[in-house]
Amino acid sequence: MLRTEGLGYWYQDKEQPLFQDINLEFEEGQSYAILGHSGTGKTTFLSLIAGLDKPREGDIFLNDRSLKQIGLTNYRRHDVAIVFQAYNLFNYMSPLNNLLTAMAITNARHAGDRGYAQRVLNDLGIGDELLTRNVQRLSGGQQQRVAIARTMCCDAKLVVADEPTGNLDEDNTKEVIDQFQRIAHDQQKCVIIVTHEPDVAARCDHQYRLENKQFVQLD
Ligand SMILES: Nc1ncnc2c1ncn2[C@@H]1O[C@H](COP(=O)(O)OP(=O)(O)OP(=O)(O)O)[C@@H](O)[C@H]1O
Ligand SMILES: [Mg+2]
Repeated sequence: MLRTEGLGYWYQDKEQPLFQDINLEFEEGQSYAILGHSGTGKTTFLSLIAGLDKPREGDIFLNDRSLKQIGLTNYRRHDVAIVFQAYNLFNYMSPLNNLLTAMAITNARHAGDRGYAQRVLNDLGIGDELLTRNVQRLSGGQQQRVAIARTMCCDAKLVVADEPTGNLDEDNTKEVIDQFQRIAHDQQKCVIIVTHEPDVAARCDHQYRLENKQFVQLD
């Protein structure tokens, strides 16, 4: 579904690329973990496949169409859902309105369906008493789960998440990974997660490590 061809990226110095000649394929209905030391370029890689930045070299294809051809704005709106390292919720809104707004903006199948948004949030442990509270008055872990719920309620087939369990305790980590596995297997989406936690990576269907400017497949 998503393919990189000869992908390379550097910030300032072409002689010091973060990664180069990356040829990977990510399939629908599968989950992928990306491991690697801090500063190796994991977030940068996600930002490329999320259409937030352009590759320096190579190209990215969604179902054989180049992101250049699709157009990055169009791609971000319809094809990809993102959970950032910092959550990037709509800050002045409640969890419920975060989901409803995301569904409206992206024209999702469930747009306008409050009951659906509520169920998705409840499934991630955001109880009824939190649904209408401003997200700025939620804990870090609760905000993280709202961000994950927001990606689940939209129709984008590709879900990328940057350390989605970084702020969660053990029980919530397990719950969130269960949800990501459901997104992959039941909703037939492609889920790509950056994580520092080997236990989280082990629960995904495939594992890669970014090291020495290359993605090494571990599974
Ligand atoms: N906008 C930027 N301009 C210049 N250098 C940057 C920029 N953003 C990140 N970098 C550098 O690029 C490298 C890769 O950063 P990136 O955020 O992709 O790493 P990461 O693997 O996600 O690390 P972490 O595990 O700590 O989140 C780092 O050395 C970082 O300092
Ligand atoms: Mg990072």
